[in-house]
Formats: sequence, structure tokens, C-alpha cells
Amino acid sequence: MTHSPRGRFITVEGQDGAGKTTNLSVIRDTLEQSSIQVVQTREPGGTPCGEALRELVLNRRDLDIAPTTELLTIFAARAQHILQVIEPALKSGRWVLCDRFTDATYAYQGGGRGISLDTIAVLEAMVQGTLQPDLTLLFDVDIDTGDARARQRSEADRFESEQHAFKRAVRAQYLALAQRNPQRIKVIDAAQPLEQVVHAVRSQVKAFLGTVVDE
Ligand SMILES: Nc1ncnc2c1ncn2[C@@H]1O[C@H](COP(=O)(O)OP(=O)(O)O)[C@@H](O)[C@H]1O
Ligand SMILES: [Mg+2]
Repeated sequence: MTHSPRGRFITVEGQDGAGKTTNLSVIRDTLEQSSIQVVQTREPGGTPCGEALRELVLNRRDLDIAPTTELLTIFAARAQHILQVIEPALKSGRWVLCDRFTDATYAYQGGGRGISLDTIAVLEAMVQGTLQPDLTLLFDVDIDTGDARARQRSEADRFESEQHAFKRAVRAQYLALAQRNPQRIKVIDAAQPLEQVVHAVRSQVKAFLGTVVDE
């Protein structure tokens, strides 16, 4: 029986308006040029159940969702996503490209909402087991630039309408994660003009491809 090598798991992270979604197609193109099959997805969401939970945490201001409820809802969506989409794809040899993952939980629910990182780590272990991204591109931008870009794109969701202090804490937590995991998390200066950001993204993806040995 032939069996394909396990795929790789790539995530993009960063504040709203940093340019994550814009650059997903750049990452995807770079991978597809190397004949890699890519499954593109996002969090919270990625499954019908996850998308329903996403709608709750992003938009239902009327429900007065508590921080712990928010945290558990995001991990509930993640459990479904791993089971139905991420693990099956990786097992079949396809690569998974995900718009946000657990680093966002540390940044938003940890940094932003102030939930202890140890609590998040307990849920991470429960829901993910040993699953971790192989590569994460962190799009880092100052708050005002991110806000201005997000505003021009669409109406603010529950996170985008948070205070400046919340967003500063999110950014600081993201950068702390990058410092702690320099092998996995590559910081992209997302304040640059798009052309330069795209160039940096391609370079990081190609560098990663260079480290992947054929199995
Ligand atoms: N480097 C950049 N310079 C200027 N505008 C950008 C840049 N990157 C993205 N944008 C624009 O900013 C907005 C937000 O980008 P988006 O990719 O949706 O951010 P995110 O997914 O991180 O919230 C979009 O209108 C996009 O076209
Ligand atoms: Mg986006």
C-alpha cells in the first residue's frame, strides 16, 4: 500500500488589518508552484459547526459573552476543525494553510482578555494533543495602521471594536510568542507597502520549503 508523507501545517497570525487574508493567496501560490496540494481554511471556523460558533464570538454583542465562554467556544470550534478538516488533510499528505490558530487565542483571550496562559495551555493540550503548526507567519503592524486598514475593509467585529489597550496587549502577546518560538514563528513587518510584504512572505515560505526534506 502506498502512503503519502504527512502534510505540513502553516498558520498566519496578527492583528486585524495586518494583511493576513490578503497574503494567504501568496503563500498558496508559492506552495502550489512546488506542486504541493493546499487546503485553505480559517479560525474560528473552517467547518459548518465552527462557522456557526465564529458568528457567535465575532458578532453577537447582544449575548454579553464572558471571556471564559469566548475561550471555550473558540476551542470548541477548533476541536471540530482539527477532527473534520486539519488532521484528515495532513494525514492524506495535503498541506493546511490556516488564517489564525492557537497563537491568536494566546494573543486575544490571553493578552487581550487577561485569561491565564496556563489555562489556555490546558485546553490546547486537551484539544490539540501534540498538533502544532510547522510554520507561522506573524504579520506585525502598529495599531493605528491595522485599525485604519480594517476600517476601510469592513465594519468592526467584537474584537476590532475593542479599546486601544486591548489591541496593544494583543500585539505584545503575539510578539512575546514569536520571541519564545523563533524557529516556528517568523515575524513579517506588515506596515511596509504590500509589494514588500509579499516579497517577505515568499522568502519565508521558500526558506521553509528548503527545510522540508522529502520523505
Ligand atoms: N501592506 C499593505 N499595505 C496597504 N494595505 C494593505 C496591506 N496589506 C493589506 N492591506 C489592505 O488592508 C486591508 C486589510 O487586509 P486583510 O488582509 O483583510 O487583513 P487581515 O486579514 O489581517 O485582517 C485590506 O483592504 C487590504 O487590501
Ligand atoms: Mg482576515
